[in-house]
Order: sequence, then C-alpha cells, then structure tokens
Amino acid sequence: MTPPAHRATTANLVAAYPFVAGGSLGKSGVVVGRDLLGGTFCYDPFQLYQEGFLTNPNMVVFGQIGRGKSSFVKSYLFRQIVFGARCWIIDPKGEYSALARACGSAPVKLYPGGRLRLNPLDPGSCTPDLGSGTPDTGSGGNGVDPRGNRQIALLTSLASTCLDRQLLPGERTALELALADATARCGGMPVLPSVVEALLSPSAASAETVHISRGDLAQEGRDAALELRRLVHGDLRGMFDAETTPGLSLNEQMVVLDLSAVYGSDALAAIMVCALAWLQSYMTQAALGKLFIVIDEAWAIMANLSVARWLQASWKLARAHGVANMAIFHRVSDLRSVDDEGSWRVGLAQGLLADSETRVIYGQPPGEAGVAQQELSLSDTEVHLLERMARGTAIWKVAQRSFLVRHVLSAAEMHIVDTDAHMAGHRRAGDNRAGSAGPDGLTDGALAGPDGLTDGARLHGPGAVELEPARLPYVRGRDIG
Ligand SMILES: Nc1ncnc2c1ncn2[C@@H]1O[C@H](COP(=O)(O)OP(=O)(O)OP(=O)(O)O)[C@@H](O)[C@H]1O
Ligand SMILES: [Mg+2]
Repeated sequence: MTPPAHRATTANLVAAYPFVAGGSLGKSGVVVGRDLLGGTFCYDPFQLYQEGFLTNPNMVVFGQIGRGKSSFVKSYLFRQIVFGARCWIIDPKGEYSALARACGSAPVKLYPGGRLRLNPLDPGSCTPDLGSGTPDTGSGGNGVDPRGNRQIALLTSLASTCLDRQLLPGERTALELALADATARCGGMPVLPSVVEALLSPSAASAETVHISRGDLAQEGRDAALELRRLVHGDLRGMFDAETTPGLSLNEQMVVLDLSAVYGSDALAAIMVCALAWLQSYMTQAALGKLFIVIDEAWAIMANLSVARWLQASWKLARAHGVANMAIFHRVSDLRSVDDEGSWRVGLAQGLLADSETRVIYGQPPGEAGVAQQELSLSDTEVHLLERMARGTAIWKVAQRSFLVRHVLSAAEMHIVDTDAHMAGHRRAGDNRAGSAGPDGLTDGALAGPDGLTDGARLHGPGAVELEPARLPYVRGRDIG
C-alpha cells in the first residue's frame, strides 16, 4: 500500500530535514545559474579536480533540439575567458562566430576549395604563435614516437570512417607503411596527399618490410587510398590537403573552427575528426594553461567504431594535458546508436561516459528515459524530471552528486547564444525567459515556472514527499531523489 503523500512547502522541509541537505560545489569558478534546490550554482572542472572531487575534467551534455545545450556551453566559455581559460571549438553549425568575435577573435571558416588549410598530420611541435610552449620532442622516452602514434591513429580512424567499416590487417599495415614513406618524402612533415600517393605507389623498402611485392602492397591499401583521396582531390579537397596555412593563430583565447560549409556532408564525421586532430596536435604545448576543447554536435563522430575509439583515446589524454573536453549530444542513445545493443561498440560509448565525470542532461523525449536511466544512473526522480524540464534547465551529475540547475543568461550574452533568430524574429533582445517555445515547437513550448520546470511539474523527494517548486529556491538541499 502506498501511503498518502505528505505535502509541505520547502520552507517547512528545510526545518524538518535539516541534515539531509548536501553541500554545494563551492563558490569558486564560473557561475552557471541557479541551483533550483538552493542558491547559485558554480562549476569549474579544474578546481574540482584539484580538490579531488573529480577524477577527470571532461563533460558530456545531452538534450533535445533547442533545449539550450549550445547556449550553456557558449556562455560558460565566455565566462571562463575572464579566468584566463583558452577554448578550442569544433563548430559544425557555424554558430559560435558571435562568441569568437565577442572574445576578440575571428572564427576560422573552412570550406572545400577555400583559402585556409589545416594539416591533421601536423607534428604539432613548433607553431610560432605558441612559441612560449615547450616543443613536443617527438620521443615518448620509450623509443615510441608519440607523434607517429597519433598520426597513425588518426589515419586509421579516418580511413575506417570513410570506408564505413573496420580496417583489415593488410589495410592497417599499408597505412602505417605509407605514413612512414610520406614522412620520409616530406622531410618529417607528412600531409594527406603524400600519404595517398604512398598508398597508391608504395616504396620498394615498404614492400620489402612485409615481404610482398609493391603491387600487392598497393592493392592492400587501394580502397583506403581511394577514400582518403576524396579529401585530397575529390569534393572535400582544399581543407586538409596541405601544410597548415602559415600565420593561422592558436594563440587566441578563443579558437573556433567553423565547419558549417560541410554540415550537410556525408563526410562530416571525417571532417570533424581532421579538425579535432589538428587541434589536438598542439595540445602538448606546456604553456597552454587551462584549455577547453568543445565538440558541438558530437553525435556525428560517434557513428563509426574507429572514430569513437579514437575519441575515447583523446578523452583519456585530457588529464595528462590539462584539457577539459566538452561534447554535446542530443540523446543518450546517440552513444548507443553506434551499433546494436550489447556489442562492444556500446562498451566504447560507455567508456566515453566513464571518462566524463560531469554529465549535464537537458530535457529528453519519453522514449529515452530507460536508456538515460541506465547509462547515467539516474534516480527515479531524475527520470521523472527528464520530460518536464523547460529550456535552460538541466540535471547536473558531477561525480556522485546531482543538481538541478537553471542556466541563467545575462542580457549581454543573448546575442552570443541566439540560434532562434529565424524561428522567432519578433523576439526582443534581452528576453531571457527560459520557457519560450523551442525552435522544434515540441515539449518545452510550455511556460516554465520560476523553478525552471514546466507548469504542473513537481519534484518528488524520496518516498512520499512532494516539494512545491514555487518555494524551491529556498531549499538548502542539493541531492535530487
Ligand atoms: N537559459 C536560457 N534562457 C533563455 N533562453 C535560452 C536559454 N538557453 C537557450 N536559450 C535560447 O534557446 C535557443 C536555442 O538554444 P540552443 O541553440 O542553445 O539549443 P540547442 O540545445 O543547442 O539546440 P540544437 O540541438 O538545435 O543545437 C537560443 O536561441 C537561445 O537564445
Ligand atoms: Mg546546439
């Protein structure tokens, strides 16, 4: 038998349950918004790592279309800039330009046949703009060249993405040998065209290494070469097919790589991987300080096993290089859609989650509740909230703790985050109502109450206690559910 609910205002509850309240994350770092269970919510992964609260600084953000994922990330980075952080952003929709400009830098717009080139195989040792950094000596101290490892990991992921399947042993070997040939031919600075050339026409020495003829080795690498050729001579040429354009600055606090020109391309994942690899090749610079690397629309690069694996490996490096990665997905099941349930692709996705101790979960559609609960260890209360949170409100899972946070935008930030201009041309600048209808016209059309929940929603505490949202700002408790 279920006992009848005991209803009380949160003002009463705080007196009734004074020791149930958890502590906050502290007041240092960047203000995100309002903790709906009491006070201001601040978050800084570097600070929390130093304090031992987090064991990794990475973050994943989930949410339905138009819930405010990108807005949160943009304003968060904008605020982090004040604290001296650097931000490198992969921007597939071309919506971070206003943020870049507000931070005094111009977005780097890449498009096929354009003027700018990024070399994803950059050794990353000595860009003049990062001159104060310690050069990557190229030796890992164990005889293995970490640059070579990084480059071959990138090439195999790229080839696998383009081929849309796992590589065969012969293909992997052909790629390794082609990279060595290309590196030798280019005086230590390989570029994709030289790798493609070396795949199509391997050296005698490479063929000798694996005891086959040059023709047979060329045959092994032919499919990969033809696919990679697309980035070199095909419709995607003119972005990643030469040495990096001189003078391209990574010295700015805010670096935005705008890939909107290829957003609709079936090769978006490969392009995002190239862009990310280029950024990562400079990650080893010692003087970078606090660095955030953001991948918006990250679902695009989880669709392929090798790329997912590559991304996870990069995630793992975050701690070593003082980098906080932030990846934005729509649904929690984006991580699973890489393969059928139960396969080891799912394991990879889960690995990425395990390496992201901060999970920010905006509203999810009803069908997602089960997956979200399982993958993110949500309590029943949190699952209940998934469909009821208005735009701008999210569940934050930080290590073992949960918070319900309404992200607050200042009027000055509205122009940086506005992606609704085409949907709501009539909206006044500075209108900061969290409950305005989403561009999808879906669930968050309902007006949010002051608590950031859609009308009629209630926060259910454990057992039979219902908290009345109108009084929530006065509750000192933190953990939900
Ligand atoms: N906390 C907030 N308060 C008020 N308005 C907000 C808030 N967050 C987002 N918005 C508004 O909602 C609109 C959509 O937000 P945003 O582009 O961040 O959504 P999204 O979740 O990234 O969507 P998509 O999945 O399409 O990328 C923006 O125009 C922004 O101005
Ligand atoms: Mg977005």
